[in-house]
Amino acid sequence: MRIVVTRPLPLEGLFPLDGYEVVQHRFSPGAPEEDQLIDIAQGADALITLLSDPVTDRVLRACPDVKVVAQYAVGYDNIDVAAARARGVVVTNTPGVLTEATADMAFALLLAAARQIAPADRYVRDGKFSRWEADLMLGAELNGGAIGIVGLGRIGAAMARRAIGFGMRVCYCNRSRANPSVEQKLGARFLSLDALLETSDVISLHCNLNASSRGLIGREAFARMKPSAILVNTARGAVVDEEALAEALRNRTIRAAGLDVFEREPAVHPGLLDLDNVVLAPHLGSATRATRLKMAEMCAEAVRAVLEGARRIPYRVA
Ligand code: DGY
Repeated sequence: MRIVVTRPLPLEGLFPLDGYEVVQHRFSPGAPEEDQLIDIAQGADALITLLSDPVTDRVLRACPDVKVVAQYAVGYDNIDVAAARARGVVVTNTPGVLTEATADMAFALLLAAARQIAPADRYVRDGKFSRWEADLMLGAELNGGAIGIVGLGRIGAAMARRAIGFGMRVCYCNRSRANPSVEQKLGARFLSLDALLETSDVISLHCNLNASSRGLIGREAFARMKPSAILVNTARGAVVDEEALAEALRNRTIRAAGLDVFEREPAVHPGLLDLDNVVLAPHLGSATRATRLKMAEMCAEAVRAVLEGARRIPYRVA
């Protein structure tokens, strides 16, 4: 049995695959194209993929031996799940384990955007700090403000917990209303998206990317937000219309943004690059050593279960 891992992952995490042939591939910089993926996946019984790998119907058709695609991420919008299902290919992901790391990153971006940490750092390095001034780089106060969580799943709830610790009130919108016990624990108010956009001081995105969330935060949404609003996106870039975001930040329709994900990742809209009121990170949500190790382990466990014909496949999404 041959398992192809599309990028180098923490090898120690792949111990459940001891005894199998594991091929770790290294693409040249940039996201792989379908053809490259097809090329390296030839003869593979299992694939361990990254969120930048286009696992399309064409790729699956060209690799008929593949029985399982184990995604090294919780989001799997890069995988044509319907095509996998139709071909009897199991798809798994890595839920739960990256919740706290991703919420940490979202909160780090929020604090950086609210208190201008990146421009402040540049200011000091550029030798511009000549004296303390009462009006130097005044930021937004989080305490007492409202955070609007778009998508109150595991990561959204973890972000809400952090916000509560900083004295914020929580509201949320979701496809369906959360369990009353979850609402109660977070003191979270269920709102429509429009009401959330209009009343929140911080809007943090934690929804999946799908047909209904693609471009959800566009010109109309920015027009509803407070001019003091801060947008944080650690979900998927394409939930936000980046052109509209660049315009809203430039015109101060909103105050600031913190982005870990981009609409056409790894490309970033050029209109964002020279703005001081946006802080940018290269998709680091789950990037802690402990989390990445556990993610590798979960992929390996799922692959092993499929290849051994286990009745219960862990972390299965299709
Ligand atoms: C995921 O797992 O979907 C995250 O985006 C990785 O950081």
